[in-house]
Amino acid sequence: MSNKSPIKNPAWKKLAAHRKKLAGVHIKDLFAKDTQRFEDFHLEYEGLLLDYSRHPVTKETLALLAALANNVEKAREQMFTGERINTTENRAVLHMALRGSVSENIEIDDENVSAFVRESLAKIRDVAGKIRKDKNITDVVHIGIGGSDLGPRMVTEALAALADGPHVHFVSNIDGTHLARTLINLNPQKTVFIIASKTFTTIETMTNAKSALAWGKDAAKFYAVTANEGAAKTFGIPTENILPLRDWIGGRYSLWSAAGLPIAVSAGFTNFEKLLAGARAMDAHFCEAPLSRNMPVILALLGIWQRNFWERGALAVLPYAQDLAVFPAYIQQLDMESNGKSVDRDGKKIDYATSPVVFGEPGTGSQHAFFQLLHQGTDIILCDFIAVKNSTHKLPGHHTKLLANALAQAKALMAGNGKDAAPHQAFDGNRPSSMIILESLDPYHLGLLLALYEHKIFVQGVIWNVNSFDQWGVELGKKLAKNITQSLENNAKTADFDSATEGALSWLSRGNA
Ligand code: F6P
Repeated sequence: MSNKSPIKNPAWKKLAAHRKKLAGVHIKDLFAKDTQRFEDFHLEYEGLLLDYSRHPVTKETLALLAALANNVEKAREQMFTGERINTTENRAVLHMALRGSVSENIEIDDENVSAFVRESLAKIRDVAGKIRKDKNITDVVHIGIGGSDLGPRMVTEALAALADGPHVHFVSNIDGTHLARTLINLNPQKTVFIIASKTFTTIETMTNAKSALAWGKDAAKFYAVTANEGAAKTFGIPTENILPLRDWIGGRYSLWSAAGLPIAVSAGFTNFEKLLAGARAMDAHFCEAPLSRNMPVILALLGIWQRNFWERGALAVLPYAQDLAVFPAYIQQLDMESNGKSVDRDGKKIDYATSPVVFGEPGTGSQHAFFQLLHQGTDIILCDFIAVKNSTHKLPGHHTKLLANALAQAKALMAGNGKDAAPHQAFDGNRPSSMIILESLDPYHLGLLLALYEHKIFVQGVIWNVNSFDQWGVELGKKLAKNITQSLENNAKTADFDSATEGALSWLSRGNA
């Protein structure tokens, strides 16, 4: 990694000047000037379309942006060859190995990575197969949080049309309601628990796991997915029921690992392999396509163009597919936990913006909720529309309307409605969006989509010169919660808190009104 500030790159200044030149240009004028605009500003790969013609970009913009990515190829090689690019944790970043995208020779901590992946896949296949074959098992409860929940849950739900195994439930919140409600109609004799925690110390997961153990007594079966096998054994999980993780699998990049066990339980191992194959195809594209035709690189550069040169602070992720309902939450963690940083790779404070605030909901529900602001609000929000060409259901009259809505919203944001409308009915347009269309929401295309975003976020982290693979920002709150829990449990002050915390503690300890 080159550890250079992007603003020292000569391209940065040129982009700032270029941005000024484009200030008065409406995106719809770019379309009017060039009726073939779509041709120049879209990419297609393996049944995935990325249309970025609705961005305020010209060919010159893209050439300048590409110059900003001059250190990406080297960084990509460092990641794919297992260098310890996560320097604050001294870890390699090799989730791509889980889908067979790295050399067979890589060793980390004296272990051959590909051999580990093969063993891990065999274990996922065997355990998922065993659970699926056992007709006595009706329900599987996956307990995990963050990366040990969002990815596996998002994919399991996205592939719901293919689900033919036991019903898989996900419990993440330490709020006991989550577990209690999930267990309400389940039978311990017919339930399997998967405790997924890389560290096996995460308070939410351990608290839920203990309650699950108490509920399941000796009847329910427990599996663990973890890099801390010792803690899983101490918890009482037999060695043969432990599916190992490794340090080089980051939590938010772990759905390709044994953390994806619920996907294989729900949709079957063959579909899990197809998911890996889709991601592997995107890895190959990311490694081989020239930067100017490289989907993750283009998506990353457009995000930087919006964030750093047009000062757009938010990204709306808008899947027009109900099965992708969890996708925005998954991207939230992937993006904000990776690039929500304000020190560079040398630990120095940085003076440019990094990750935007990411939010989103599926279309079309979101149109009736927050699209008002997207169209007429004072902030301009970059939107990623994600649509699917072929539906997974056969209900007539739905899918064309769904697709039409995605296209209509992107057009309205871009073009607006001209000059003659009354002020409250005026749409200025000139609001940028990307349109991603998958041929089908099948495991292969889903794998392509997820790896697209993973690599996009990697490229942005490289350019912003931040470590995209640590997450120290979550630690302080965890530590404080421990002290405050003690105070609440013992009804006594365990540390010198501020008056707001003390006020709340005292209010909570008072009798009810
Ligand atoms: O608190 C953040 C985090 O460390 C995430 O990065 C991670 O995905 C999640 O917690 C869960 O961690 P674990 O898998 O160790 O329980």
